[in-house]
Amino acid sequence: MGGERVNMEKRLTIAIDGYSSCGKSTFAKAVAKELNYIFIDSGAMYRTVTLFCMREKFIGNAGLDIHGILKELNNINIDFIFNPDINEYETFLNSENVENEIRSMEVTAHVSRISQIPEVRTRMVELQRQIGIYKGIVMDGRDIGTVVFPDADIKIFMTASVDIRARRRHDELKGRGIIIDFEEIKRTIIARDIADENRDISPLRRADDAIILDNSRMTVGEQMVWIKQIIEKKRNDS
Ligand code: DC
Repeated sequence: MGGERVNMEKRLTIAIDGYSSCGKSTFAKAVAKELNYIFIDSGAMYRTVTLFCMREKFIGNAGLDIHGILKELNNINIDFIFNPDINEYETFLNSENVENEIRSMEVTAHVSRISQIPEVRTRMVELQRQIGIYKGIVMDGRDIGTVVFPDADIKIFMTASVDIRARRRHDELKGRGIIIDFEEIKRTIIARDIADENRDISPLRRADDAIILDNSRMTVGEQMVWIKQIIEKKRNDS
């Protein structure tokens, strides 16, 4: 056994699900950094497929070209590559950095339709499981604790009040020079919640064994103190 490296700390799989605009990615990123784990934003994967479909004109006024999408599905390669200059992972579509483009309003407007295609979900879940095979991963999304990693070591379900989420989104957009009426943002958030919770496949729901994190009145620092206690307890129990 001489020379074999023994890792005393069990590598964990941490699944973070929850409503849109409640700070899932910010929190998940901070947790991954703290543990030196990989962070995967599963929403970015659905956004990347959407961008691909837009470029290939599979999304049009007449609806979706499902046949075209399914034919090309296996030619969509998604990678997350760490950029040391900004200390963050960035999303790549077939070797092209698309991190900014997938956050556009146009992609945001189409992504929920693309993420409802069963074959797209099956493919994304397959990729997500491949990425998570060695554990040491924090993944955020809508179905991570319920479908992707039902055996995750720690499952968090994030929520925050609609007003607070709308306020945060409003301030974030304002910071980017985009002024949108607060009530309109609120209506969009409510509509997205309803869509996420009521879609037929993999609707957003809390896994029975997920711990709820309502961060309405918590800073990211406070959320980190909270999760560190959960991680420590998990490690001591196992
Ligand atoms: O978290 P986000 O807004 O970037 O997600 C983009 C879209 O993808 C959103 O419509 C929900 C969907 N999504 C999903 O269906 N399953 C996931 N695991 C993650 C995101």
